[in-house]
Amino acid sequence: MARDKITVVGAGNVGATTAHIAANKGLGEIVLVDIVEGLAAGKALDIAEASPIELSSGRIIGTCDWPQTAGSQIVIITSGFPRKPGMSRDDLLAKNVEIVKSVSEQVVKYSPDSIVIVVCNPLDAMVYTTAKVTSFASNKVMGMAGALDSARFSYFIACELGVGAEEIKCVLMGGHGDDMVPLPRFTCAGGIPVTELIRPDKIAELVQRTRDGGIEIVNLLGSSAYYAPAAGAVKMAEAILKDKKSIISCCAYCDKEYDAGGYFVGAPAILGEKGVEKVIELRLNDAERAAFAESLDHVKQLALKVDKML
Ligand code: NAI
Ligand code: 2OP
Repeated sequence: MARDKITVVGAGNVGATTAHIAANKGLGEIVLVDIVEGLAAGKALDIAEASPIELSSGRIIGTCDWPQTAGSQIVIITSGFPRKPGMSRDDLLAKNVEIVKSVSEQVVKYSPDSIVIVVCNPLDAMVYTTAKVTSFASNKVMGMAGALDSARFSYFIACELGVGAEEIKCVLMGGHGDDMVPLPRFTCAGGIPVTELIRPDKIAELVQRTRDGGIEIVNLLGSSAYYAPAAGAVKMAEAILKDKKSIISCCAYCDKEYDAGGYFVGAPAILGEKGVEKVIELRLNDAERAAFAESLDHVKQLALKVDKML
């Protein structure tokens, strides 16, 4: 049987780490692409040379050459500028629209049947850009942010409760920005709602730390996070390639869902072989609905700016 083919665009921090994790999981044949001569080839060779030690069978190549990506099932787009201290994700819009537009055109040309997972920031606007440029069916374009933000929230909750991180199942909605909407009422530790286990003021603190999770790392590192973001992207790719029907918060097309009106925004979704197979509609309370509406409004404003740039 032919192996699945996964293209990772951008061989920087997030892209190379994504390729490394995917190779270790043996997810398929990986093609790492970058515009910088030698960068993707060098990183791919280094990852391949680790395979005898890591006992992985993942085949990986790195290239500047798009034809080598042809016929990929999954394309993960990480090519874009990351923010530096003092910058917001939105400050990246103009530069990254250009990059994501040109990359999306190559995806249409070489992998017209692929499912695309976008990682670049500002995330929701970059997913919108890819969807517009590719004209792929809306279930085949999505963004990775909810997996990361949920993982951060889960980690903070696990530390607070002193339990294993794998005990926490978290739901988070909205755009990947300061106004994202972690949902404690729908977040459980070993099946028990965390609202039963943690004081409201402490939960509010953990919600705020989650919203600030990106900038906390930027301020420590001088550039943005990549281990957890890469793990999030691979989790989504694996759910699709293995048809796992996993429920993962991600940036998905919502129309009637949450009255979003045809925008890509964070929501819990079932991921399987068709990509986003269903967006799950939660019964939000008034405060949750208002927080989501505010975040969605921000997502729409950025999409309007993208419309003017394309
Ligand atoms: P990086 O600067 O380490 O890597 C970006 C790579 O993209 C560079 O190697 C660059 O040469 C390459 N590139 C630029 N234009 C290209 C093109 N046209 N074709 C192919 N490659 C191209 O940046 P890093 O840290 O990997 O971040 C990448 C993006 O992901 C940023 O926009 C960042 O903000 C975003 N990000 C998003 C997260 C999320 O939760 N959605 C989490 C972390 C980062
Ligand atoms: C993050 O949340 C920068 O969006 C990236 O770490």
